[in-house]
Amino acid sequence: ATIQWFPGHMAKARNQVQEKLKQVDFVLEIVDARTPEASRNPMMNEIIGAKPRIMVLNKQDLADPEKTKQWVTYYQGLGYEAIAIDAQHAKRLNQIPTLGKRLMAAKITKQKSRGIRNPAIRAMCIGIPNVGKSTILNRLIKKNVAVTGNRPGVTKNQQWLKADETLQLLDTPGILWPKFDDDLIGKKLALTGAIADSVYSEDVVGMYGLQFFREHYQEAFRRAYGLNAQDLALSDGDLMIHLSQKNGFADNYNRMAERIIFDARQGKFGRFTLEVPGDDANDADAE
Ligand code: G4P
Repeated sequence: ATIQWFPGHMAKARNQVQEKLKQVDFVLEIVDARTPEASRNPMMNEIIGAKPRIMVLNKQDLADPEKTKQWVTYYQGLGYEAIAIDAQHAKRLNQIPTLGKRLMAAKITKQKSRGIRNPAIRAMCIGIPNVGKSTILNRLIKKNVAVTGNRPGVTKNQQWLKADETLQLLDTPGILWPKFDDDLIGKKLALTGAIADSVYSEDVVGMYGLQFFREHYQEAFRRAYGLNAQDLALSDGDLMIHLSQKNGFADNYNRMAERIIFDARQGKFGRFTLEVPGDDANDADAE
């Protein structure tokens, strides 16, 4: 699902999310565990204001488990509930309703004290495209209603879907735009497939991948491409040329760059995380 974001679309998306927010008790902010900060909307804190939230680091099956732990701790330190899941596996996903009840314990107690036998708490999923909002929503309600294919700017009648007896979810996720203002963020989003292949140049993103993996996941990278110590002593540019020739692309370096992007997304270099808490580029909570 590719969305071209223009200022008008952003304003509309923001207004829609804020309209829906009035109806919910808390927010599930969905991010990609491989790049949690780059995959957040830059105005998230401003948009959701004081609503309680659960940070959901999705696609943890693709992310570096050590770094995922660091991120969960980091978000908890900011006062959010935080959980790492992958939408494909129900076990951890099913902790979301429990976390929601913990977050809303005061409201539930109050409703019960008023004699309401089945108190309801209401939430919505919010995130940039492709982080897994629809998949998570479908898994939480354990059915496959048509929650995919929503686009910002399209309104329809809203429904509440039951995750369990207490937790109700808005049937349409809130879709917000990613951060575009920074080159590095763009490269992270492109490498993880969060933004469409048509909006970046593969040579730039492929080179970013080469640099990142040789630096941070060198052994996996070395093994994936059968590199020796001499190869690894090459400069980034020369290594790209070497890999291109070795893979039969001759001097068509763009094809090698594309291959690196493809291989990264396929997990050929193993599970990876592109940023850790405290990196300079992480500024969503520094507003
Ligand atoms: P969105 O609503 O936020 O836009 O995201 P959506 O649920 O459509 O998910 C985007 C892509 O990410 C989908 O793949 C989906 O299967 C995949 N995905 C969602 N959650 C996870 C997860 O926890 N782990 C992994 N590995 N992938 C996840 P797709 O290629 O667009 O479609 P398909 O492969 O399902 O056919």
